[in-house]
Amino acid sequence: LVPIKGLILRYFLIYVIITLYTSTSKHLPFSSIDRKCRAETHIVFLKTHKTASSTILNILYRFGESKNLTFALPLNKNSQLFYPFFFAPHFVEGVSSHHFSEFHIMCNHMRFRNSEVAKVMPRDTFYFSILRNPVSMMESIFIYYKSIPAFHGKRSLDDFLNSSRTHYNGSIVNNHYAHNILAFDFGLNNNVTFESPDLNKQVLNAISAIERDFHLILISEYFEESMVLLRHSLCWSLEDVVSFKLNSRSDHTRHKLSPETADKIKKWNALDWKIYLHFNATFWHKLDTIIGQQQLEKEVTELRALQTKLADICLKDGGAVDPSKIKDAGLKPFQYGAAVIQGYNLNPDMNNQTRAKCEQLIRPELQYTDKLYIQQFPEKVLDVIHVCFPVIQNCT
Ligand SMILES: *[C@@H]1O[C@H](CO)[C@@H](O)[C@H](O)[C@H]1NC(C)=O
Ligand SMILES: *[C@@H]1O[C@H](CO)[C@@H](O)[C@H](O)[C@H]1NC(C)=O
Ligand SMILES: *[C@@H]1O[C@H](CO)[C@@H](O)[C@H](O)[C@H]1NC(C)=O
Ligand SMILES: *[C@@H]1O[C@H](CO)[C@@H](O)[C@H](O)[C@H]1NC(C)=O
Ligand SMILES: *[C@@H]1O[C@H](CO)[C@@H](O)[C@H](O)[C@H]1NC(C)=O
Ligand SMILES: *[C@@H]1O[C@H](CO)[C@@H](O)[C@H](O)[C@H]1NC(C)=O
Repeated sequence: LVPIKGLILRYFLIYVIITLYTSTSKHLPFSSIDRKCRAETHIVFLKTHKTASSTILNILYRFGESKNLTFALPLNKNSQLFYPFFFAPHFVEGVSSHHFSEFHIMCNHMRFRNSEVAKVMPRDTFYFSILRNPVSMMESIFIYYKSIPAFHGKRSLDDFLNSSRTHYNGSIVNNHYAHNILAFDFGLNNNVTFESPDLNKQVLNAISAIERDFHLILISEYFEESMVLLRHSLCWSLEDVVSFKLNSRSDHTRHKLSPETADKIKKWNALDWKIYLHFNATFWHKLDTIIGQQQLEKEVTELRALQTKLADICLKDGGAVDPSKIKDAGLKPFQYGAAVIQGYNLNPDMNNQTRAKCEQLIRPELQYTDKLYIQQFPEKVLDVIHVCFPVIQNCT
């Protein structure tokens, strides 16, 4: 009887330990991640324009900073990897000097070229990007990049579109913003319209190039679903992908487009439009097969709850405010074009640790890039200290 008793006791103890363990882990908030996979830390994010990509940049910056990962940052404290030139390895700080044996994350604006990016990043790197509906994207671009030659003297987007076929000159610097900018950012030929005789061939080539080079394409219109799919693809937790919207326009600079104007955009940016339709379909297919509708809804709800909780803790005004209302100049986002880019004020009553976490969440792109540069290249900072960003610093 004695050995049997001992055995029962042993099994009983194991049972208690397992129950305790699983019940405590169940009570950790929002950590529904299944730890059978290993969190991805080699990442290339192709940052596209006007697609909520600044918010994703912030997510990557926070993740990398908290885990001491190295970023492939632009040379000499630039904010972009010499966009709109095609990417080249020497655009990255530390490549020419062999400062690092490996980079973990590359995520600043560049014009993608897979063979060159592959020279800098490890072989097992995860590549992803984000697309936005080219119709609303064009409305945004027209406001934000109002100063490019293609939009010069155009009273409205409709005005531009009416004459784009006859008057647009794609050889002039910066005009690419006005024509199939998604294709351009992916390093593809953007000189394509609805009337191009080889449109279908161009579309097929573009889609197969993107599918060859990228593991995942997210969709800006479904941002929360995108974050859920991203975390599953990277084996990250839901907390890793929580964010506040950054670099976002105030509603009073948004314009509603007529169906006729929308139609003209779809024709002018026919390549982008077809790329978008394709990847919107593959996005939803992936969500269905990898996550499933029920789990997706559950995680989107959790993500929203987590974001609301963080907003309550961190933000003074509960949400984004116009730049004139931002008290701390270091947290004011870069203003450009005719758009009003909103930012945040922090709740004044927080302990230092919470404040630091909250600051990371709302730190605008340029300031955060600078901060990482200084952390990664403390010895270089003296060399480039004379570089001044008039918009975010007082240069006198
Ligand atoms: C990151 O580096 C700091 C300073 O070297 C160290 O204290 C910290 O533990 C590191 N964190 C991780 C996650 O490795
Ligand atoms: C653009 O063309 C359409 C149709 O030709 C016309 O109705 C509209 O007034 C034009 N818009 C502008 C701003 O010129
Ligand atoms: C764009 O394509 C048109 C028609 O094929 C051609 O005439 C034009 O030179 C091209 N523009 C550029 C910038 O390559
Ligand atoms: C387009 O711009 C280029 C570069 O400025 C110029 O050389 C060319 O003549 C322009 N083409 C037309 C049709 O105006
Ligand atoms: C994108 O896909 C979703 C889900 O299938 C669909 O509801 C939506 O209409 C699509 N968007 C466009 C622009 O076709
Ligand atoms: C919090 O930060 C402030 C300013 O950096 C510092 O003066 C203070 O000592 C810090 N408090 C604690 C408890 O670390």
